[in-house]
Amino acid sequence: MPIKNKQEVELSIESTAFGALGVARVEGMAVFVEGAVPGDRVMARVVKKKKSWARARTLEVLSPSPDRVEPPCPYSGWCGGCKWQFLSYPRQVEYKASQVKENLEHLGGLSGFTVLPPIPAPEIWGYRNKMEFTCTCRRWLLPHELGEGGPSMDFALGLHVPGTFDKVLDIDACLLQPDDANHILARCKELILESGLPGYGLRHHEGFWRFVVIRRSVAEDNYLVNFITAWEERDLLTRMAEQLMADCPRLAGVVCNVSAKKSSVAIGDYEIPLAGSPFLTDSIGSRQYRVSANSFFQTNTLQAEKLYSVVSDFAGLSGSERVLDLYSGTGTIPIWLSEDAKEVVGVELVESAVTDAVRNCVDNGVENCRFILGDILEVLPALNFSPDVLILDPPRSGMHPKVVQTINELGAPRVVCVSCNPATCARDLGLMDETYRLVRIQPVDMFPHTHHVEMVALLEKR
Ligand SMILES: C[S@@+](CC[C@H](N)C(=O)[O-])C[C@H]1O[C@@H](n2cnc3c(N)ncnc32)[C@H](O)[C@@H]1O
Repeated sequence: MPIKNKQEVELSIESTAFGALGVARVEGMAVFVEGAVPGDRVMARVVKKKKSWARARTLEVLSPSPDRVEPPCPYSGWCGGCKWQFLSYPRQVEYKASQVKENLEHLGGLSGFTVLPPIPAPEIWGYRNKMEFTCTCRRWLLPHELGEGGPSMDFALGLHVPGTFDKVLDIDACLLQPDDANHILARCKELILESGLPGYGLRHHEGFWRFVVIRRSVAEDNYLVNFITAWEERDLLTRMAEQLMADCPRLAGVVCNVSAKKSSVAIGDYEIPLAGSPFLTDSIGSRQYRVSANSFFQTNTLQAEKLYSVVSDFAGLSGSERVLDLYSGTGTIPIWLSEDAKEVVGVELVESAVTDAVRNCVDNGVENCRFILGDILEVLPALNFSPDVLILDPPRSGMHPKVVQTINELGAPRVVCVSCNPATCARDLGLMDETYRLVRIQPVDMFPHTHHVEMVALLEKR
């Protein structure tokens, strides 16, 4: 019998799909199941029904997969931070790699390429060098917190329930960041509550405290706190920052970013330094980078080194090549490749990232990289530069179709594409297929316990 919306069904999970979903089949129809992994038999409720597929949510695990493990985090299953804690780490990596392959074949229509064994992360807990915690005046309570004697609903500093913009869990500690960062988070929460100012209302856009962002330098093992607030309270924040510095010995500095914007992004309209240093210095390999509150920096520092090693391996530079790096951020890939190239040109949209990239070159004594500020869509057609090797590292949304077309026309002999989204990467590489042959893919796990996966693709001109 065909399944219906809101129906409760017993399902056997056979495979996985991107988004940490289990996949079951009911009379040939694919059912994507939240909270389930291959080998599980679950009772699930259908939450969406389309013509050829359905989505369901696990209500009860009737018979668990042998790959299930006990999640160490008390928020697992509720928090959107990591959805795969209950799956053994080797299986997480294996499933991520198979999703990369499936996306390239099914969404990109690609074949004949090699998928190399995925590179697992060297650390699977405490690996994140940056965490953004949302502060709000309305706390989402867990089932055991409901009822009389439970915590107040008026405040939360934590992470979102998956897929929601206004449901925030109050988090005491997150296992994706180190213990020292959790100690800093706890102290920030106490000081925020003592301030008497309210958390931000995500629906009505009222209230003061918006986000607390904690960044870490792995090389120096120190931290930067960034408070994002709705308006300026300089004296109060300065007192708090000094207290925080006194209480947290590994804290290098505290800044505040003021944001009057309604959009829920942890970036301010302007920054106020409050105490200590307004930036950290971290390393990828032998190079040092200045990381300020709003800089883009790979969030898993140790694994970034492996990712960039794959990029240089695929780029196959001998010292004489001219390299073009599109979406160059703070210049980390150009600097990484600079020793083996004649020249590297980076193109990047964000002005502060280009400023950081230029300074990072100076700090590292690199003289053969230059950067162009602008939108690749406009810069690329006007660029008078024929690269031997083209590097791409677009954001999660992938590339504009016109950018892909210009890349095809540019015709660099070798292209190395880095992506954190197998679906958009498959779409874009599919559009390049007539001009470029996909040779091999290296999945790299930068984000244990989440469904996200990074990949590096090598393409050669046909
Ligand atoms: C995934 S990050 C890559 C950064 C860098 N390769 C790294 O490893 O740190 C993508 C970068 O593309 C930039 N970007 C996004 N859209 C862009 C566009 N249309 N033109 C130029 N740069 C863009 C973003 O600002 C961001 O720095």
